[in-house]
Amino acid sequence: MPVRIVDRISVVEGDITQQQVDAIVNAANQTLLGGGGVDGAIHRAAGPELLEECRSLGGCRTGEAKITKGYRLPAGYIIHTVGPVWSGGLAGEDELLASCYRKSLMLAESHDMKTIAFPAISTGAYGFPLARATLIAVRTVLEFLSQSPGIEQVVFVCHGDRAFRIYNDALRTLAGKDSPSRQPEMSTSTSEDRESSGISGEIRRQVDGQLLMIESVHGIRIVNRDRLLDKIIDAARDTGHASRITAALNSWVAVNGITGDAEIPAEVIRRILARTGP
Ligand code: APR
Repeated sequence: MPVRIVDRISVVEGDITQQQVDAIVNAANQTLLGGGGVDGAIHRAAGPELLEECRSLGGCRTGEAKITKGYRLPAGYIIHTVGPVWSGGLAGEDELLASCYRKSLMLAESHDMKTIAFPAISTGAYGFPLARATLIAVRTVLEFLSQSPGIEQVVFVCHGDRAFRIYNDALRTLAGKDSPSRQPEMSTSTSEDRESSGISGEIRRQVDGQLLMIESVHGIRIVNRDRLLDKIIDAARDTGHASRITAALNSWVAVNGITGDAEIPAEVIRRILARTGP
């Protein structure tokens, strides 16, 4: 029975240095001589022999990947890749980030590896918007796995709950990794009905994914995302109503040319909810 591609991908919250996989991927810099964030954590956990081997690699270009042993890590190997520094999205950052995932997977496959763990490359010091980077990561991995049966498991290791939720939303959005408890659309109007039917959980998951798509398509980060999410869930009667609300929000973002870190004004939210009534 062939394994579905989406079942060869998992999302965990934790520390990549502790992953029991064939290879972990390091979000390095071009010198490959260590740094902060993931890079620092991996060098500390792997021990000084790692730096010795890295010195022999002669650096690494952005979007490329090189491999070393894992030394004191549970993982047998480390694949070092250099993500792009975010500079607004018009300097080829998306393709360079996709290349990091693709080249890392190619290296793993060429070494007959079966399991590999990725951090959220470029989303820390390099400033790549998390939602946008997540969609690129998930889409690139899905494409690679569809062509390559060799890799059995890709683990996205998230540092913190927000990243964990965004990765899961991206998987649901791009790979239809549906929640098993998907409910039919209900016309319940009371929050008790919705809670009892589990529909509010379904609305929350759907709206979370749709906000993720709005952020990644427009390259923005909604700074009042959690408050916006709660307001939409409180107002939405069912998943169809929720979709009309997020579609109106998407239009407002596009029409107003919103970019970067953006707060959606309370008055705009109120007008959208009033206009998209059930
Ligand atoms: N395990 C998993 N994820 C982690 C860990 C960890 N131990 N530590 C940090 N992260 C997450 C961060 O929260 C962020 O989401 O990894 C992501 C990548 O962040 P950075 O490590 O800052 O990597 P990046 O944004 O690619 O910047 C690379 O930073 O550390 C330097 O030498 C590195 O110059 C390079 C730059």
